[in-house]
Amino acid sequence: MLYFDHNATTPLDNRVLEAMLPFLQHLYGNASALYRLGRVSRSALETARTQVAQLVGVQAEQVIFTSGGTEANNLALQQVSFGKRLAVSAIEHPSIMVPALLWQAQGQQLNIIDVDAEGHIKPDFIERVSWAKGDLVSMQMAHNETGVLQDIVGYAELLREKAVTVHTDAVQAAGKIPVDFVQARVHLMTLSSHKIYGPKGCGALIVENGFNIRPLIQGGGQEQGWRSGTENVAGLVGFGKAAELALTELVPRQQHLLALRMQLEQGLKSIPGVVIFSEQAERLPNTVQWGLNGLDGEMLLMQLDRKGIAVSSGSACASGGNKPSAGLTAMGISEALAKSALRISLGQQNTTEDINTLISTLKSLVLH
Ligand SMILES: Cc1ncc(COP(=O)(O)O)c(C=O)c1O
Repeated sequence: MLYFDHNATTPLDNRVLEAMLPFLQHLYGNASALYRLGRVSRSALETARTQVAQLVGVQAEQVIFTSGGTEANNLALQQVSFGKRLAVSAIEHPSIMVPALLWQAQGQQLNIIDVDAEGHIKPDFIERVSWAKGDLVSMQMAHNETGVLQDIVGYAELLREKAVTVHTDAVQAAGKIPVDFVQARVHLMTLSSHKIYGPKGCGALIVENGFNIRPLIQGGGQEQGWRSGTENVAGLVGFGKAAELALTELVPRQQHLLALRMQLEQGLKSIPGVVIFSEQAERLPNTVQWGLNGLDGEMLLMQLDRKGIAVSSGSACASGGNKPSAGLTAMGISEALAKSALRISLGQQNTTEDINTLISTLKSLVLH
């Protein structure tokens, strides 16, 4: 199979699997236990914490392990107090948008921040809102469908001056572009393991030093009391190893992906009428979302699947329904064009031959 859906999930790196295996087999101790087997798990967990911390340039104590990006996003939004304002961009992942809408349904203030036709957050939201201390803004660092990068630093700097808490969902950015928590100027940042060749079901919320977290999950007091529950040691060991590899191999990975993306875009543009969404915007090196008026994206996805090629028609969670992508709709893309959209997200294993096969297959399906 040719796999082009790395923004949905990535295959497990063999080196990650190797690091995890002992903790799935004989090193099964509870990381809170005091005897040797427990201490071995604890030590592995703390190594993983350091590895994840290093990926984004923070200290290990700033990493709260969670069950994934979704939980970390929910935990981040939990930091807004009743009576305060929550603001999220119009193109956030459902793991931000759904809890944000729930917040509004509870009678709380919610602002949805508009994006322009390229998918960039419109900067005027900073002046249009009368911000108060304790308000919380959540903005994605890189979009899961278009790959568009946002000016998080610029906005975070301005919002900090107004004592507003800033969270960024860096799930798609980490491992694909350099991500530095301190430089981003945010208070909170979400990461996910399975987007960086680690196992599913592991993630982290990175927290600024001194920030007092209100937990989402209460219980035995693990993770400094910020996230209770027996730690998924094997998974988190894998997340740590994946983070270490993402950091040490970042530059060659980026170069590889960008070269493939350029080849892909050139190939797509040789198909008359193809529109590459957010083409002029700064984007992730691995992501291309495109459409072609008159095409049915879901149908083309299924035709490609029959030929052994996996792509996405939007974000994985959104596909399966017949609604156009919320991200494209927010950018003002017409319903017909949005329904033709396919997302191709490249990964380390993809080669130039893979792209050639994809383009020739697409041409055989689209040009007739
Ligand atoms: C931007 C973004 N945020 C959050 C998530 C959720 O992460 P997880 O799958 O680890 O819960 C995803 C997953 O698709 C994502 O793309």
